[in-house]
Amino acid sequence: MKIKFLTFLFIIAAVSMSCKGSEPVTYSDSALKDIVGKYFLIGAAVSTRQVAGQDVNALRLIKKHFNSIVAENCMKSEVIHPTEDTYNFTDADALVKFGEENGMKVIGHCLIWHSQLSRWFCVDKNGNNVSPEVLKERMKNHIHTIVGRYKGRIKGWDVVNEAIESDGSWRKTKFYEILGEEYIPLAFQYAHEADPDAELHYNDYGMDAKGKRDKVVEMVKKLKARGLRIDAVGMQGHMGMDYPRYEDFEESINSFASTGVKVMITEWDMSALPSAYTGANIADVSAYKKELNPYPNGLPDSVSLAWNNRMEKFFNLFIKHSDVISRVTAWGVTDGDSWKNGFPVRGRTDYPLLFDRNYNPKPFINKILNSSK
Ligand code: GLA
Repeated sequence: MKIKFLTFLFIIAAVSMSCKGSEPVTYSDSALKDIVGKYFLIGAAVSTRQVAGQDVNALRLIKKHFNSIVAENCMKSEVIHPTEDTYNFTDADALVKFGEENGMKVIGHCLIWHSQLSRWFCVDKNGNNVSPEVLKERMKNHIHTIVGRYKGRIKGWDVVNEAIESDGSWRKTKFYEILGEEYIPLAFQYAHEADPDAELHYNDYGMDAKGKRDKVVEMVKKLKARGLRIDAVGMQGHMGMDYPRYEDFEESINSFASTGVKVMITEWDMSALPSAYTGANIADVSAYKKELNPYPNGLPDSVSLAWNNRMEKFFNLFIKHSDVISRVTAWGVTDGDSWKNGFPVRGRTDYPLLFDRNYNPKPFINKILNSSK
């Protein structure tokens, strides 16, 4: 790992003189996956529109640069399983086929999550919570049907998403209300039954927080002690200019890896805007204010430079830990498509991804692309 890392630093240093901040960038024919693929899978969350080829420029970038994809939305329960008796596999089928046709590892996201959850899942016709037995049966059917359909074709599943609060307490979701923490091992058990070869992950945001970190470690140990399969902890990696602290993020990588699982950076992006909220709970949206949207017409050079430096610093951290980090996935392809334009404040213009609104690589990505020459 050390040698790989030193080589990478050397390459970065060798090109760093040539492309700083706002200087004109030289476009490279190199593909990200060819350069960093030796460290980990490099992925992007893709939309149904992109898979359908409705954005040809994005499609070109996805095919060229990434060797892994994850569904931005089409595998979430509200889309794929909208009523108890209806599954809608059209978009997920297309995504999996697209990944296979382009030699990409396809990641399944996500099986059990309190958000973007179909309305029927945890309640009866009158809106009352179902019994523990009914919920177990529903979870089992949901997981068996979806994981079973793509058996052998999905590399790994985000089995449970966001079950823990920053302070380390269990998030009080419907799943928790009805089944207590037992819903987590059950979800992992059902997923393993449906595809014994698929990797299984726990995924969450704000993983730099000590309370959450410790609880995740405890949970992974408990799952393992019960003989359940868990292969990786997914650190979503929704970042900003002032969070998370680099040291805290690194400590979490080390703590998760110390349990024997791999670590994945699963939803990487970095807002360049003033932070209104540091988490990623998509229920929490703040009111629009002009001062929260300071760069509607483009990032000033100084901000762009700071953003690129910070992204590069984290990317180097991922490389440094590439013995335990098996995948880095960006949550989207270009700035124009990012959810960050609408969260946590609607109607802003943000710059969080690896490619800009004109489909050009950001300077720190360009630096990596040029490093192969
Ligand atoms: C969470 C989820 C993702 C996505 C992002 C925001 O992090 O895991 O699926 O919804 O929020 O888009």
